[in-house]
Amino acid sequence: MQRLDVAVVGAGVIGLAVALELRGRGFSVVVADKGEPAKEASWAAGGMLAVDDPENPAELWPLSAWSRELYPEFLARVEDLSDLRIPLRTHRCLQGAHEGESSLEALQLVNELGLKGDGYAWTLQTEGSLDPRDLGAALRAACDRNGIAVKTMCAVEAITRELDGWKLATSQGEIAAARVVLCTGSWSGPRQLPVFPRKGQMMAVEMEAPLDTVVRTPEIYLIPRGGNRLVIGATIEDAGYDKTVHAADIAALKMRAEKLFPPVAAARVVETWAGLRPGSPDGLPLIGALEEGLYAAMGHYRNGIQLVAATARALGLEVAGEALPQIMTAYAANRTF
Ligand code: GLY
Repeated sequence: MQRLDVAVVGAGVIGLAVALELRGRGFSVVVADKGEPAKEASWAAGGMLAVDDPENPAELWPLSAWSRELYPEFLARVEDLSDLRIPLRTHRCLQGAHEGESSLEALQLVNELGLKGDGYAWTLQTEGSLDPRDLGAALRAACDRNGIAVKTMCAVEAITRELDGWKLATSQGEIAAARVVLCTGSWSGPRQLPVFPRKGQMMAVEMEAPLDTVVRTPEIYLIPRGGNRLVIGATIEDAGYDKTVHAADIAALKMRAEKLFPPVAAARVVETWAGLRPGSPDGLPLIGALEEGLYAAMGHYRNGIQLVAATARALGLEVAGEALPQIMTAYAANRTF
């Protein structure tokens, strides 16, 4: 059996980006996923690059800030390797919070856009958003074009340490690799890691006129998605791995959106879906070595799209035996909870 340098388990945006980073460092890489690439949380995500969302845990900020720094280069590289575009759909975000003070420029924009913003303190943030489905497709194409085998419908049932690496027992036979990176999102995977799903139901509507700004409050967010399309989200539910979309929950979300932004009332719902955010006990991702030759990159909860650039870079450094930035200790995959 051919032994590769690295087997990545999970082909969400995190797994695909980690695979690409490792390939770029000269490792031979295979990716195995129990389903289709980038079709779980990566497909469902909102795509806000929300570094300064006050709902994020404060401890997440150093990682978010590092990822923001790496993001332009990350996107350019994926575009270059895939020959696909991943356009930023928006460049600013009106953030509503329950505490704090509104800025004048934010209040002006609230009025200009016709938001019913009473009850919130508004700030205007320079923040991008992208369509995670663009990113997933480009990462997949970049892997395909760069010698990374992405095995779909290939469930990894067990991983066993061998003398010279790891043996993965999969639904499509065995894989041998010197190292393994687990990128299984909210699935605890063959090592029963402490991650769990947090369901989000969402919808896309077609507006009569476009919006050019992400609008986000603790209760609701509106994300322009090109043309007149607006993504509205999201519920946060502990419902196991159930991804059922309930009409009543969608109607409640739409009502909440209408209250904040009345033109949503006339909008047509064009898509509804639910995704599973990968939660962790402290709300922070698990990134790095679990034991010699075994690594994890999972549990990114609400920010997998934003954190992908730093996560891939961190895994690249770690697998190559290079020093990680000091900030990464807070996210160590083998920390105790
Ligand atoms: N990133 C948005 C959400 O988790 O709903």
